[in-house]
Amino acid sequence: MTHSTSGAAPAAVSGYSDPPASAVPPTGQPPKRAVSWWRRPWVLPLAVIAVAFVAFSLPPYLSFDPATSRVPEPGYRVHYPFLVAHVLFGSVALLSCGFQVWPWFRQRYPAAHRRIGRLYVFGGVLPAGVTGVVIGAISPFGPAVRVSNVLLALLWLVCTITGYRMARQRRFVDHRRWMIRSFALTASIITNRIYGAITAVVLWPQLATTFGGDEDELTRTIATIGAWSGWVVALLVAEWWLERGDMARRRAAAQRVDRPVRTHR
Ligand code: HEM
Repeated sequence: MTHSTSGAAPAAVSGYSDPPASAVPPTGQPPKRAVSWWRRPWVLPLAVIAVAFVAFSLPPYLSFDPATSRVPEPGYRVHYPFLVAHVLFGSVALLSCGFQVWPWFRQRYPAAHRRIGRLYVFGGVLPAGVTGVVIGAISPFGPAVRVSNVLLALLWLVCTITGYRMARQRRFVDHRRWMIRSFALTASIITNRIYGAITAVVLWPQLATTFGGDEDELTRTIATIGAWSGWVVALLVAEWWLERGDMARRRAAAQRVDRPVRTHR
């Protein structure tokens, strides 16, 4: 994870107003043009999945009735109110993050990018992350899930706060890097359910054998695998994505240096 200040993105790319001259690469190239929204094929599926996830997950918690909760009561009175707050703020984070990582929207509407960004940080990740630490530490799914939840919540807070601070300091390259990590962790709440479902399909037939008929043990194992793999894989993909971009830039820079200089006689 880098903290470089060099090579900050131009305003058109970052979605912010002009960074100081020292933060802009002296390439002399014209600013990048916004890539049409339809040339980003992942934007629509991402939005549909996020809306579907919230439409499925949120309603039981809007009744404020613990009987409708999908999470078993672990025996702490704070759990349910914190869980409801967590789901509400988590929904804000999930619904707003799609706009933030959508390059066309960011470049077209920089002011909206800033406003939705503040909503994502202060109305989504911060309250959902803090409540996530609390309910994560008292999760009914056992110690392995508790450790995963608390670690995920802390990483989510750290990546998001760092990304926000980088934007305030106009270090837009670093801002982008930290916010991609934050986005990966937000989206991991969906991949975590997918891995959990796959694990359930694979492990159910082993209930009588591997788990000796113990359904609780099987449920805890499924929850543990889903919890850990959800965010670890998402974070690895984010790092690969960032590294891939850096490699391409390094290669392009090396080619520029290697190119023979032509002299005109
Ligand atoms: C990325 C950091 C997050 C952490 C650490 C986290 C942590 C937790 C924890 C600990 C629980 C209780 C279940 C358990 O004990 O394992 C929970 C439940 C829940 N979380 Fe999160 N969460 C995060 C992000 C999100 C996001 C972005 C959403 C988006 C809506 C969300 C929606 C929910 C829902 C709906 C539940 C209730 C379970 C269900 O009905 O399926 N969480 N979360």
